[in-house]
Amino acid sequence: MGAPFAAATAAAILLALATLVSSNTEGDILHEQKQAWEDPNNALQTWDPTLLNPCTWFHITCNNDNSVIRVDLGNASISGPLIPKLGGLKNLQYLELYGNRLNGSIPATLGKLKHLVSLDLPDNLLTGMIPSSLGAMSTLRFLYAVFHRNMIGFHLYNISLCQEQLLLLRFAAMGAHSAAAVLVTGLLAVATLVSCNTEGDILYSQRQAWKDPIGVLESWDPTLATPCSWYHITCNNNNSVIRVDLGLAGLSGPLIPQLGGLSYLQYLELYGNELNGSIPATLGKLSNLISLGLQENLLSGAIPDSLGAISTLQLLKLHGNNLTGAIPQSLGNLTNLIYLELQRNALSGSIPASLGSIKTLEFLRLNGNSLTGTVPMEVLSLVLVGNLTELNVASNQLDGTVGSSGYRVTAIIQDTLKTTG
Ligand SMILES: *[C@@H]1O[C@H](CO)[C@@H](O)[C@H](O)[C@H]1NC(C)=O
Ligand SMILES: *[C@@H]1O[C@H](CO)[C@@H](O)[C@H](O)[C@H]1NC(C)=O
Ligand SMILES: *[C@@H]1O[C@H](CO)[C@@H](O)[C@H](O)[C@H]1NC(C)=O
Ligand SMILES: *[C@@H]1O[C@H](CO)[C@@H](O)[C@H](O)[C@H]1NC(C)=O
Ligand SMILES: *[C@@H]1O[C@H](CO)[C@@H](O)[C@H](O)[C@H]1NC(C)=O
Ligand SMILES: *[C@@H]1O[C@H](CO)[C@@H](O)[C@H](O)[C@H]1NC(C)=O
Ligand SMILES: *[C@@H]1O[C@H](CO)[C@@H](O)[C@H](O)[C@H]1NC(C)=O
Ligand SMILES: *[C@@H]1O[C@H](CO)[C@@H](O)[C@H](O)[C@H]1NC(C)=O
Repeated sequence: MGAPFAAATAAAILLALATLVSSNTEGDILHEQKQAWEDPNNALQTWDPTLLNPCTWFHITCNNDNSVIRVDLGNASISGPLIPKLGGLKNLQYLELYGNRLNGSIPATLGKLKHLVSLDLPDNLLTGMIPSSLGAMSTLRFLYAVFHRNMIGFHLYNISLCQEQLLLLRFAAMGAHSAAAVLVTGLLAVATLVSCNTEGDILYSQRQAWKDPIGVLESWDPTLATPCSWYHITCNNNNSVIRVDLGLAGLSGPLIPQLGGLSYLQYLELYGNELNGSIPATLGKLSNLISLGLQENLLSGAIPDSLGAISTLQLLKLHGNNLTGAIPQSLGNLTNLIYLELQRNALSGSIPASLGSIKTLEFLRLNGNSLTGTVPMEVLSLVLVGNLTELNVASNQLDGTVGSSGYRVTAIIQDTLKTTG
């Protein structure tokens, strides 16, 4: 008698435990939501609560841990309320329910969705106020307006919106009752306006401008709050990008001018790709840059004068491209430069005497261009007063020869004498 009784008790306890564990799982929440809705088109037919998780249901997307991150049910002809339990979908990023016949109010519990990126509810029959709890949603980047003629007032505090998002909001409001315009104006007053050019946005725009056949940029997810967890990106403790390391990554396409907005960047390493187009002058705004590695690409056009403004620069490597025009005099302002590598381009004109100001310079490689004139005395003097150990001016169209002093410079590789006719 004792043993079966104990077994029955154990089973009962297990059952109780099982109930405890399974209650309120994400599948249960969604199933409860399904039961609260009318679904004339059977959009929710696959929402079977007996499955282990809702990840195979249509219109549901999960992450690798089988937790729901998207609900995509726009234009699905569903009607009824939003249940408060939706606030329990703790990893939800996208709640896309526009264009249905949802009625009732927006549950305040949605404010618990700490990972929500997009709350997309326009074109429904929702009423009431936008819950102030939504103001707590720090990740919300696209709040498509919820405005309906019966919506009266709202409280959105501590929400950061950038100008583009605000425009989206305005646009959504225009389609609704004119009261919505008033609401948007109110939103302007309480929302924190931030620049849309966040570093993640800049890098994501660059990603979109590039071809990436190997998929090295696959982790560059614009919905994350910062780009700091993306591969090939390094941030400082303040979540500002300080390195972009994408050498030999198979990338092709242009450098976008917005890159000049990565104000804290120290290393931009993009060598050995197939980048084409010109070097954006805006890179001169990178006032913390230590290394600009753009060598061995297909870049063309002139070296921007603006690069002379990056006083922190220690390595400027532009060799092995198809750069034309003269070497900018402004590069003489780079008084921390150690490597100046401009070899194997199509540069012309004379070597600027200003380069003689770079006392820190150790490697000056200008070979394989179409430079003319003579090597300025100021530059040659770096051999005596500076740290220059290699001066390579071979394969140009220079006049005269460079006499090796043998002092510090271990290699002066001179141009062959130009034959004058
Ligand atoms: C939803 O339906 C509306 C009205 O029919 C249409 O204008 C809109 O393009 C649809 N949106 C999507 C994403 O299908
Ligand atoms: C939502 O619509 C349904 C069906 O039309 C109706 O029965 C219900 O009362 C409405 N709920 C609210 C809160 O308006
Ligand atoms: C907004 O932020 C301020 C300061 O961080 C805080 O004191 C206030 O409680 C917040 N308001 C809401 C509605 O979260
Ligand atoms: C982080 O930001 C704070 C405040 O803006 C600033 O004082 C500090 O120097 C920054 N630290 C770094 C590593 O950029
Ligand atoms: C860069 O390369 C792409 C693909 O080969 C080409 O379509 C584009 O015109 C090139 N851009 C420039 C500025 O050369
Ligand atoms: C380099 O640029 C010149 C002038 O723009 C062009 O004629 C030439 O084809 C380019 N060479 C290469 C290898 O891209
Ligand atoms: C940079 O170089 C240019 C040309 O050599 C010069 O006119 C300018 O004054 C320099 N700027 C600074 C900030 O040193
Ligand atoms: C030359 O190099 C030495 C050793 O690396 C360094 O201590 C010194 O500061 C450099 N001089 C200049 C002008 O950069």
